[in-house]
Amino acid sequence: MTYVMAIDQGTTSSRTILFDGDLKVAATAQQEFTQHFPQSGWVEHNPEDLWQTVIQTARDAMDQVGATASDIAAIGITNQRETTIVWDRKTGAPIHNAIVWQDRRTAPICEALKAAGHEGEITRKTGLLLDPYFSGTKVKWLLDNVEGARAKAEAGDLLFGTVDCYLIWRLTGGAVHATDATNAARTLLYNIRDGHWDKEIGALLDIPLSMLPEVRDCDGDFGETSADLFGTPIPVRGVAGDQQAATVGQACFAPGMMKSTYGTGCFALLNTGQTLVSSQNRLLGTIAYQFGGVTTYALEGSIFIAGAAVQWLRDGLGIIKDASETQALAQAADAGQNVVLVPAFTGLGAPYWDADCRGAVFGLTRGTGPAELARAALESVGYQTRDLLEAMQADWQGAGGEAVLRVDGGMSASDWTMQFLSDILGAQVDLPTVLETTALGVAWIAGMKAGVYPQQDEFARSWALERRFQPVMGDAERDAKYAAWKRAVKGAMGY
Ligand code: G3P
Repeated sequence: MTYVMAIDQGTTSSRTILFDGDLKVAATAQQEFTQHFPQSGWVEHNPEDLWQTVIQTARDAMDQVGATASDIAAIGITNQRETTIVWDRKTGAPIHNAIVWQDRRTAPICEALKAAGHEGEITRKTGLLLDPYFSGTKVKWLLDNVEGARAKAEAGDLLFGTVDCYLIWRLTGGAVHATDATNAARTLLYNIRDGHWDKEIGALLDIPLSMLPEVRDCDGDFGETSADLFGTPIPVRGVAGDQQAATVGQACFAPGMMKSTYGTGCFALLNTGQTLVSSQNRLLGTIAYQFGGVTTYALEGSIFIAGAAVQWLRDGLGIIKDASETQALAQAADAGQNVVLVPAFTGLGAPYWDADCRGAVFGLTRGTGPAELARAALESVGYQTRDLLEAMQADWQGAGGEAVLRVDGGMSASDWTMQFLSDILGAQVDLPTVLETTALGVAWIAGMKAGVYPQQDEFARSWALERRFQPVMGDAERDAKYAAWKRAVKGAMGY
């Protein structure tokens, strides 16, 4: 039996999924790990936890189907993006915990760079904004704050990597220090127009370029696992950041195709082909994927709170015991009330990028109860996605007209939420049969490279529809509801 192993190292858990020769899921193993919050707004992971949970889930998945290393044609790695690890080139020891993408500690560095007028040039080169979300200022923070780190970095003794890169380095026993173009594109240090580490940004952030990994195609050769890990070495042949892997898994290969993944947050990527669009609406320009040296770009909208709004109903308000209760509660809401929740619990992401904004609820009456709040939480996901779609349409005319959205992630299992999404967008929303799109995407890349899976066109044709949602809401109601959302956001931002 031949399998392809997809390692999905995410923000709250590590998962390994084995796909069989027909790209069907054969085994899944998952482990959560500890989140560290050393100060308000700081989020860290222990790199050893990431590594151990990856190796344990990989072995667990292999055991489930009795696979040995020689049954695995290739490994693909997909990962939480931007999260930053710096380690010692000689000993392999990380100099600090990983600083997670959600961590806001470098906000003052970003503000200072903005005040000095650097944002325009950085955005032009990297497609990104000066926000603590991205890796560059996190690396700077580590070099500035960990004792002795800067001297070691300048002596060439430290290495930087996003999580994919750290895993590759460990899987190959330190033989390969490389990342892929999609992960490089999230560092704030990579010029995505020209495809190289940017010397000027490196100098601005005081980061020696010798720390940075080699950048390869998503379907590049990332070496072989060291023999002591699984028995015989397994080739690593596919790497992509998790949102980009989902874009591939959703087969969004044509310009104008868009996917939106609803997890804790929501990340929407619109394929813009070989055109890097400079957003005028505070979206990100990024690399969707890079195969055989050809770069395909995307516009990305990042929303920090989607499923996390449902977690708040459960853990903060205690009005549900399980996320699965939310849909039924929302359906029971009084249709005459228009309660709007702005879930800016950790600020607002695209297109507002207001780190200081906090959540708000509008339209409360004496009759408002758990059902109306549950509906407002689910509707907030639709409104935020519409914000992204409007920004995308304003930025790129190729996204206009026949917008089609392919959805995945936990919340896409709620029919009610997806119907509301379709209604408020006034657009078709497509749910695929395979919901493991992130793992599927990177497994396909690795398996295609290893010669066990079909080429891109045939893979795209295998994408299958589970359910299509079409808008049924009238224009007047849609417009009124969205206008109420816009007023609510303005109110929250002005508070
Ligand atoms: O940009 C952050 C994103 O890659 C995190 O994804 O699924 O680990 O929350 P996830």
